[in-house]
Amino acid sequence: MSIWRWANWITPVPEQHRVTLGEGNTPLVRSTSIGPAAGLENLWLKLESGNPAGSFKDRFGAAAISAMRAENQTRCVATSSGNTGSAVAAYCAAAGMRCEIAVVETAPQGKLRQMMAYGANVYRIKDFGLDPDLSAKAFETLMAQGEAPDARLQVSSYIYSVPGMTGVETISFELAEQAEQQLQRPIDHVFCPAGGGGLCLAVCRGFARLVSESRLPVSPAIECVQPEGNDTMATALSEGADRARPITCTTNISGLQVPNINDGHLVVEELRPTGGRGQLVTDEAVWNTQQRLATEEGIFTEPAGATALAGCLEAATAGRIDSDAVVICLVTGSGFKDEASVDRMLDGIECPTLTLDELG
Ligand SMILES: Cc1ncc(COP(=O)(O)O)c(C=O)c1O
Repeated sequence: MSIWRWANWITPVPEQHRVTLGEGNTPLVRSTSIGPAAGLENLWLKLESGNPAGSFKDRFGAAAISAMRAENQTRCVATSSGNTGSAVAAYCAAAGMRCEIAVVETAPQGKLRQMMAYGANVYRIKDFGLDPDLSAKAFETLMAQGEAPDARLQVSSYIYSVPGMTGVETISFELAEQAEQQLQRPIDHVFCPAGGGGLCLAVCRGFARLVSESRLPVSPAIECVQPEGNDTMATALSEGADRARPITCTTNISGLQVPNINDGHLVVEELRPTGGRGQLVTDEAVWNTQQRLATEEGIFTEPAGATALAGCLEAATAGRIDSDAVVICLVTGSGFKDEASVDRMLDGIECPTLTLDELG
């Protein structure tokens, strides 16, 4: 199975041009420990970490690279905090396409090495992803490079790459199907981690598409969770502002370091009617939740993948979620992506080597 199961709804790409590595159709598992401990009886985790290159961005990669193939483009130019790069590099390899990726300076080694392993040409840009002015100028330069006839710039955000982002909307189609078949109850809230906001917007638009086609009566509340050090949208959403705001990024959570607005204004505008709010979390709360997911639920995720749940727990503590509400948290990326975060979780725990005598 793949995201092309929903092909009539995502960017129409003729079958012969579609690339797939079996992305999507990710499991929805019930939280057996963290949810009940927080008084949430129906907390479910959507494991996007199980995608072929290890994150939800594979849905983007499959749709974006297929659309390029359909237009005879052979060179993908991408910017990434890590996971978009890994995804497009994987799908370019599968499609036999060249791939050049400019990454944020702080991207974890695991993500960088994964892109290089797929054969992509990867380079870091100093202060990219931290300084909003510099990041905006870097985007402009890369956009110019992506305008060559054989090339296309891929940034996982609607303002740059609509075909790829429509692939991400398949998360909502799957959730609606899983709610009907597996939960047999409608979903009340979907918590999403947010950097540039593309993921929140894709989930929101996916549900909006289902509502507009009368396949669902109403959208769940789409909730936007950001680290305090990248608060471009969360406060704007909770305080009733109309627009997102650029910031200087101070969070250490890889994937959520996006100081520019990108899809931010659209997120504020389109999430609000669903009843979704913004939720801020500290980096420490994210790391703590990452550890709890591993030790209490058996789910190995990178920090960004624990952020939605960290935000959900804060919202529950603030009394914003009914105890019997059906709540989904997106676990967006694999723990294998970010070695340094695993070192932090282990906090000095070593793996000893025993002799046979010591074993006995
Ligand atoms: C694992 C993970 N989760 C969440 C996000 C946030 O996505 P967006 O920038 O679309 O808000 C990213 C972005 O790179 C990511 O890699």
